[in-house]
Amino acid sequence: MELRLEKFTKRFGEVTVIEDMDLTVESGEMMALLGPSGCGKSTTLFAICGIHKMSGGSLHFGDRNVTTMPAQQRSVGVVFQNYALYPHMTVEQNIGFPLKVQRVSKSEIREEVARLSDLVQIGNLLDRRPAQLSGGQQQRVALARAMIRKPDVLLLDEPLANLDAKLRLEMRSEIRRIQRETGITAILVTHDQVEAMSMCDRIALMKEGQIMQLAAPEEMYANPSSQFVAGFLGNPPISFLDAVAGERLDLGTGQSLARPFGLEATGDVVIGIRPEFFGPQHGTGLEGEVIFVEPQGREELIDVRLEGGGEIRSVLPAGEPVKPGERINWGVATDRILAFAKDGTRL
Ligand SMILES: Nc1ncnc2c1ncn2[C@@H]1O[C@H](COP(=O)(O)OP(=O)(O)OP(=O)(O)O)[C@@H](O)[C@H]1O
Ligand SMILES: [Mg+2]
Repeated sequence: MELRLEKFTKRFGEVTVIEDMDLTVESGEMMALLGPSGCGKSTTLFAICGIHKMSGGSLHFGDRNVTTMPAQQRSVGVVFQNYALYPHMTVEQNIGFPLKVQRVSKSEIREEVARLSDLVQIGNLLDRRPAQLSGGQQQRVALARAMIRKPDVLLLDEPLANLDAKLRLEMRSEIRRIQRETGITAILVTHDQVEAMSMCDRIALMKEGQIMQLAAPEEMYANPSSQFVAGFLGNPPISFLDAVAGERLDLGTGQSLARPFGLEATGDVVIGIRPEFFGPQHGTGLEGEVIFVEPQGREELIDVRLEGGGEIRSVLPAGEPVKPGERINWGVATDRILAFAKDGTRL
């Protein structure tokens, strides 16, 4: 079911947290709300599920305007960061609880719990209590409980934040599998760009209550609309350098780069170079000194201080014989240079 926010505004007292936000999540789509802490992700989610009243604008599920509909009447399943499982209930009772409240018959509840526990693969744990489960298993229970009423919309607020790195990886693909299998429309709130990029069809990148860009992950990575977006996506992050655009991109330090094709701007600009586009594999062009090497298993992050000033990062396959203190002359894939105006807008 399509979900549509129109001119959504949220105020807490005098403070406006979100103003005139438009957002459409297509039917069957998984959308990430991504952004730094405090940008309004949870506030948006709470408004959609009905916990918060909207201060302005409207919310639609398909053709229905649900703006003023009470939370319990909205067909929404929610998973919060802390799962909020009932500690005194078994897994079976936890998952079945939303149906019990609706006075669904015992036999039907049992059937539905079996269906959901199969889906999230915890059929063998139904008699346990939450305290007897691992974090990942608790997460699955919370997911099953959120989905047992066959909601139109599934809302996930930082659902993986409490899991260790390995479980997070596993649950990422699990949640995506379940979302795809059921075809449910979903919103994932996260401040982890890797999570957003790997799990979602599209990303709404937020800053201070506004959507800065809404695009598919690859598109947003390759074609960010602003310096903020470019800096938020990508790990290790992009490097920014001040430059003057003339016949070449003059770094003002005795070094320069060729202009990327299609760049029309002249004068002061900021250029962004992702680490995979700076290194010996791109030939030569920039001289500098390696100041830091961080092994990351398969890859190494290498920070270079450029001759004359400025720092730029590279990522190379592990085992490349690069040492701190070494002088290098490495190239940049100039077609991949991103250019921004001084105010951060994309050029
Ligand atoms: N009940 C409230 N009363 C007053 N201000 C609030 C309330 N809830 C949230 N805010 C403010 O609204 C802004 C957005 O908060 P929100 O919880 O939506 O951020 P978030 O993007 O989810 O951040 P995080 O990643 O830290 O969870 C923050 O500045 C926060 O202080
Ligand atoms: Mg939040």
